[in-house]
Amino acid sequence: MFPSTDLQGLWENIWHELTSAVRDRQHPFRLPAVATVSPEGEPAVRTVVLRHVHSEQRRVDFYTDARSPKVKHLQHQPRASWHFWDPSRQVQIRLMTQVTLHRDGDAIARQRWENCPMASRLAYAKEIPPGQRMKDSTEDRLPSLDDHPGEQKGQENFVVVMGSVDQIDFYEIMGHRHRRAQWSMTRAGIHGEWIAW
Ligand SMILES: Cc1cc2nc3c(=O)[nH]c(=O)nc-3n(C[C@H](O)[C@H](O)[C@H](O)COP(=O)(O)O)c2cc1C
Repeated sequence: MFPSTDLQGLWENIWHELTSAVRDRQHPFRLPAVATVSPEGEPAVRTVVLRHVHSEQRRVDFYTDARSPKVKHLQHQPRASWHFWDPSRQVQIRLMTQVTLHRDGDAIARQRWENCPMASRLAYAKEIPPGQRMKDSTEDRLPSLDDHPGEQKGQENFVVVMGSVDQIDFYEIMGHRHRRAQWSMTRAGIHGEWIAW
């Protein structure tokens, strides 16, 4: 259960928990499911690591490989829906976002790459692109640290997927009395309201 009883307090609870999840590896919001739509119109959902939350700018992001199918989806349709579930508090949060992709040469991608530990960078230096068919599961492996793939190897495949939140749906299970609220963000401002569950 989230502590606040009013919409403003609930809004603050939501952003506080999302922000905490970036630092706290045990936080259930650290591993959201993110849904995209393929160019063929097929929905696709997968788990990602929540890497950054900017509550004032209402932004959330994760990192991925430029060669992965989800990047093609987002190039075609730059919208993503994020799903967070906290079983101990019985809270579901869904975010709708407009997405921008930040890649090499871009200041945001460069700065995040600099802060990425070497071991995590190696995943982007893999030769076989994500999603490619293989004869054997062992064909795909991380380049060895001993190979000294270099500080920048893999950087060309590193993408920051930045979601600008324009809708939040909050749903809390509380025995027989649930709570649901929604906020929409437009140029005119933020509008929050209680919603029937
Ligand atoms: C716990 C967990 C965390 C993951 N984190 C990420 C991530 O941060 N970024 C990412 O691209 N894939 C991540 N993955 C893999 C994705 O869930 C997905 O399987 C993969 O990226 C391929 O997605 P796509 O084919 O839709 O592009 C993670 C998987 C698990 C199980």
